[in-house]
Amino acid sequence: MDKIVLKSPLDMHLHLRDGEMLKRVGKYSFSQFSGGLVMPNIVPPVTSKKDLEAYRGRVLAEVGDEKFLPYMSLFFKSSYRKEFLKDLDILVVKLYPSGVTTNSDGGVVSVDIDEVGETLQAMQDLGIPLSIHGETLGDSFEREAEFIPTFELLAKNFPKLKVIMEHISDRRTVEILDKYPNLFATVTLHHLAKDRDDLLGGALNPHLFCKPILKTSKDREAIQELVFSGHEKVMFGSDSAPHQREKKESRNGSAGIFSAPILLEGLVTLFENFGKLELLQNFVSENAKKIYEISPPQKEIVLERVEKIVKEEYGGVVPLFANEKLNWSIL
Ligand code: DOR
Ligand code: ZN
Repeated sequence: MDKIVLKSPLDMHLHLRDGEMLKRVGKYSFSQFSGGLVMPNIVPPVTSKKDLEAYRGRVLAEVGDEKFLPYMSLFFKSSYRKEFLKDLDILVVKLYPSGVTTNSDGGVVSVDIDEVGETLQAMQDLGIPLSIHGETLGDSFEREAEFIPTFELLAKNFPKLKVIMEHISDRRTVEILDKYPNLFATVTLHHLAKDRDDLLGGALNPHLFCKPILKTSKDREAIQELVFSGHEKVMFGSDSAPHQREKKESRNGSAGIFSAPILLEGLVTLFENFGKLELLQNFVSENAKKIYEISPPQKEIVLERVEKIVKEEYGGVVPLFANEKLNWSIL
């Protein structure tokens, strides 16, 4: 097989940024995907209807003539109530514990029922899913595992609320997915393809520094097993998070892996290497359509078996797989 067609691929976790960076990076997502869930952690974060609509407008201006539907998200605040949420055109509310990642300072200080319960009740009543960056501020490699009791608490207390565990990276998180019917997960390409030895086993590679941090090879294998089992509660979300090269190669380096330019070529290469190509369509589109009950624009992306060496920079940002070889290309 030398050609693959993906139908309406979706990136259900995407940082498009704003301003100059949006102009530089948006096109990579708009050309490859038929839609994507746009994260709200811009500066300032998206917390009002006015900011939401203004941001959607700036994104759509960059989409231009491409067929790409931006699904918007709102930055979680404990003050949100039904009257406010019911008028918004959003796919999710995204909860960040305060301080766990880029531009999350305005997030929730303690994720407990007293703090977030009323808002979650309103979301459950309105059928708005909760997207959540599940990490504590504990030991860097244990942060996601330490957050598991909170995932369980939320899933248990709000059984009709869809809870999306974003960019899961730890083998222990995989184990709770089937315990609650309302728990779902996104998985990134980088957590499938890389582990902490790629980040810091040899020379330190700041371009592989992200939150949640890359874990052990055992964790990576557990994430692979989950995705390559064809699990229907798991969907693709790249967490592509561009930062200028200078911000990454710095004594105060920003967290985020920029994968947008090579996502589908990277995914097809990886799925083929594992003999699981037949599962890719579900992972990049069908599962998300069912979980979120969405009908994205119809679009076909053709990939051909043509090798490519990934460029070292796209618009001043170093991508995932820089200088590495992929077996498939979008020509
Ligand atoms: O590494 C990350 N970077 N993880 C996130 O959750 C956010 C992202 C960003 O916005 O830079
Ligand atoms: Zn993210």
